[in-house]
Amino acid sequence: MILLYNNIMKLKKLILKNYRNYDDFSYEFNKNKTLIIGKNAQGKTNILEAIFYLSTLDSYRIKKDSELIKFDCDYAIIRGETEKNNTDVELDITIEKGKNKVLKVNGLKKSKSKDFLRILSCVNFSSADLLLLRGDPQNRRKWLDMAIFQVYPLYFEKLSTFNKIRLQKANYLSFGNIQDDMLDVFNEQLATASANIIYLRQKYLLELEKIAKIKHLKMANNEDLRIKYSSLCDEFLNIEDLKNLIKQKLDIVKPDEIRRAQCLIGAHRDDVDFFINEIDAKKYASQGQQRTIVLSLKLAELQIIKEKINETPLLLLDDVLAELDSIRQNYLLETIEKDIQMVITSVDTLAFDDEFLKNVDIVKISKGKIE
Ligand SMILES: Nc1ncnc2c1ncn2[C@@H]1O[C@H](COP(=O)(O)OP(=O)(O)OP(=O)(O)O)[C@@H](O)[C@H]1O
Ligand SMILES: [Mg+2]
Repeated sequence: MILLYNNIMKLKKLILKNYRNYDDFSYEFNKNKTLIIGKNAQGKTNILEAIFYLSTLDSYRIKKDSELIKFDCDYAIIRGETEKNNTDVELDITIEKGKNKVLKVNGLKKSKSKDFLRILSCVNFSSADLLLLRGDPQNRRKWLDMAIFQVYPLYFEKLSTFNKIRLQKANYLSFGNIQDDMLDVFNEQLATASANIIYLRQKYLLELEKIAKIKHLKMANNEDLRIKYSSLCDEFLNIEDLKNLIKQKLDIVKPDEIRRAQCLIGAHRDDVDFFINEIDAKKYASQGQQRTIVLSLKLAELQIIKEKINETPLLLLDDVLAELDSIRQNYLLETIEKDIQMVITSVDTLAFDDEFLKNVDIVKISKGKIE
C-alpha cells in the first residue's frame, strides 16, 4: 500500500531586527491564515519579503542584500521559527554592511548558502506577478529560475556556474585582442553551462504546462493555454545534444560577439512565451486573461512542489486577492486546500467575505509596528 502523506510547511514565528522599516518585530503565527492589514507604505510587503528571503536568500525587490538593512543601521536580522516534517527548525540570517551574511540553522553556522536555501519552502504570489506577461524577459526568467529552484535546489549552483562563466567571457570580450582558441575555451564551458540551464528550464515548463493548462481551463472556458520556452532551440533535446547545438551556434555568432563585445546567445537571453488558443498572450491577451494565466502558473507551481518534495509550501499572497475578481478569487481560495499556511496582505478587509475572515488572524501594521 502506498501511504500518501503530505508534510505541511509551517512558519511559527517571525522576528525582525533593523530590517527595512522595522526596528523590532516579533510575531507568532497562531492560525493557518494570517491577514496583514495596513495602509500603503506601512511595511506589509516587507514582511512577506522577509519570509521569502528566509526561503530563497533572494528578493524580487533587491539588487544587494544591504538594501534590506534599515536606513542608518549597520546590520539586520531575519529569524524564522519553522516546523518542517514535524520538526522544529530555526532559521537565522544576519546581514551586515560590507560583510558576508551569516546563516544559521538551529544555531549552527552554515557557510554555504545551499545548506540554508529552501529549508522553508514557499510560493510567493504578488500583485506585481500579475504583470508577468507584460514585463521584461528578465522578470520571466527570474520567476522561472526561482520556481525551478524550489523543487531542484542544485539548480542554484548550476545557475551560479553559468553566470560566472558568462561574466568571465563577457569580460574577456570587452578587453579586445581576442585569441580564437581562448574564446573556444570559454564557448565550450558556456555551452555546457547553458545546456544545463536550458534543459532544466524546458523540463520544468513541460511539467508546469500540463498542470497550468488544466487550472486555466477551469477558470476560462475553451481557453487552451500553451507555454513555450523561447530559446535558440524549439525542440526538447537531451543535455548532450543541446550542448552540441549551442556550441555550433556559438561558433556561428563568434564574429558578431567579438565585434559587439557581448555574449549574444545562451540561457541569459531566453524567454517564456504563452499562448491562448495559439494566440500570443503577451501581445494579445486581455489583462483578465493574463491574470488567469499567472494565477494558473502559481497554482501549478504550488502543486509541483507538493508532488515533487511531498511538502505543502507556505503561500504568500501580496495584495493579490483584491486584484482578482470574485470568480478567480474564489477559485484560488477553493483550490488551495484548508491545511496550507498562508500569509496575505491587503490594505483593508473589504475584499474578503465574512466566512473567510472568521478563520484568519488579522494583524494591523502601521509604520513598521503592529498596532
Ligand atoms: N532599508 C529600508 N530602511 C527603512 N525603511 C525602508 C527600507 N526599505 C524600505 N523601507 C520603507 O518601507 C516602506 C514600504 O514598505 P512596504 O513595501 O512593505 O509597504 P506596503 O505596506 O506593502 O505598502 P503598499 O500597500 O503600498 O504595497 C516604505 O515606506 C519604505 O520607505
Ligand atoms: Mg506592498
